[in-house]
Amino acid sequence: MVTAVINGKAVLEHGVASVSLILEGGKIRAILAPDCDVSALYPGCGIIDAGGQYVVPGGVDGHVHFGGFGSVPIADDFYTGSKAALAGGTTTVVDFCEPGEGEDPLECIRVRKDFGRDSAVDYALHYTFTEDYRRELPRIPDILDQGITAFKAYTYYPRTSLLPGDFWNIMEVIHDKGTLLVHAEEKSIIDCMKERFHPESSDMTALSLTRPNIAEKIAVESVLAIARETGTRLCIAHASSRETAAIRRRERMAGNESFILESCPHYMQFTRKSMEGPRGALYTMNPPLRAREDADALMEAVLREDISILSTDHCPYSKQYKLGTNYETVPCGVDGVQTRMQYYFSEAVLKRGLSMEAFVRMTSSNAAKFYGLYPQKGVIAVGSDADLAFFDPALSWTYTMEDVAGATDYSIFEGFPLQGRCTRTIKGGEVVMENGVVTAKKGSGTFLFTK
Ligand code: URP
Ligand code: ZN
Repeated sequence: MVTAVINGKAVLEHGVASVSLILEGGKIRAILAPDCDVSALYPGCGIIDAGGQYVVPGGVDGHVHFGGFGSVPIADDFYTGSKAALAGGTTTVVDFCEPGEGEDPLECIRVRKDFGRDSAVDYALHYTFTEDYRRELPRIPDILDQGITAFKAYTYYPRTSLLPGDFWNIMEVIHDKGTLLVHAEEKSIIDCMKERFHPESSDMTALSLTRPNIAEKIAVESVLAIARETGTRLCIAHASSRETAAIRRRERMAGNESFILESCPHYMQFTRKSMEGPRGALYTMNPPLRAREDADALMEAVLREDISILSTDHCPYSKQYKLGTNYETVPCGVDGVQTRMQYYFSEAVLKRGLSMEAFVRMTSSNAAKFYGLYPQKGVIAVGSDADLAFFDPALSWTYTMEDVAGATDYSIFEGFPLQGRCTRTIKGGEVVMENGVVTAKKGSGTFLFTK
């Protein structure tokens, strides 16, 4: 079956062009001039009229947690998370596998891939090193055989806190085999700040105040130094502070393109003010929300493309698990996979003048390139997967709980006014979302090998 997408403003790698896209067998088969008669060239083909809307490559969210991460259940599993992703134009995600106590790395990958069988988006996996990484490092060849070349490590997190020496050990092994995503917050600074707060404090701003900007800055500089020394391609996960944005600017000016940043919409939109009061627990994640100056500096960094990968760290918990906790017991993580592309289309493209090409790079191509999924993903090109999202700049709307396509019972973006809207998502040549209604089948996504 051949489908032609006509009358769209396709965002190609080198510019926006009015073209017709021919989709066949799940791939983009041809890109034709708008005056080509597609019905004559492909008799009987299905026609999708994009009505002058932007047509972009399906989004690639490089950082999601679809279920099964800790002891508290994440609200979205692979299927409901996929539906949320597709509702917002994202067709590919990168999730995580992290071995439990004594668990064999291959067993953990097998279990996670099994979980991913329900996915309706295509997905790849990061492998997360634990404090037991010395047992895991010799298994790197087996992990690579499983199609995983994206590694993750933390400077501070339960069971996964690693010191600079540990990073050195890890990077010496993986530097020529894959990429490293690092959650960077210096533990000793946070430990010292925690001594100043009463542990029972229900004031959630304590989460932010005990994890200050300097904790991120020190951790980023430390792993960056080791990455430089070992020649490792490093991405800082969910960059949250003006200091981290400044470090990337400095490195970029010096020509270091092996070091990049990932960040998420919540760090540009919200501040620790949202963490005040009884609903503050609903805005908790790590690293935490910070000051307005940080949010503004991060949006500036987006406009300059100093942030390469706009992902979400989608990790939503139901209200019952968030409310009534304290800053040390609250399960951290918020939603975002559905609103990510919508948010940047509205706030960066339409309100602040970001180009559509840059929007595509940061929401799709850069993640596909960093994780070795390009050009199968992240680009509208002949031979690439026929994953597309349509964005209509003329629609203004407010995101409400009725729009939520996943299983979350609240959203940090509830009530948020948006300009422009993702009106249709195509995955593998099939329309899987139209005007907010997701029709993708459970299990229609496939596991992707990173390279
Ligand atoms: O608070 C967060 N971000 N939860 C998810 C775990 C992580 O750090 O990626
Ligand atoms: Zn995460």
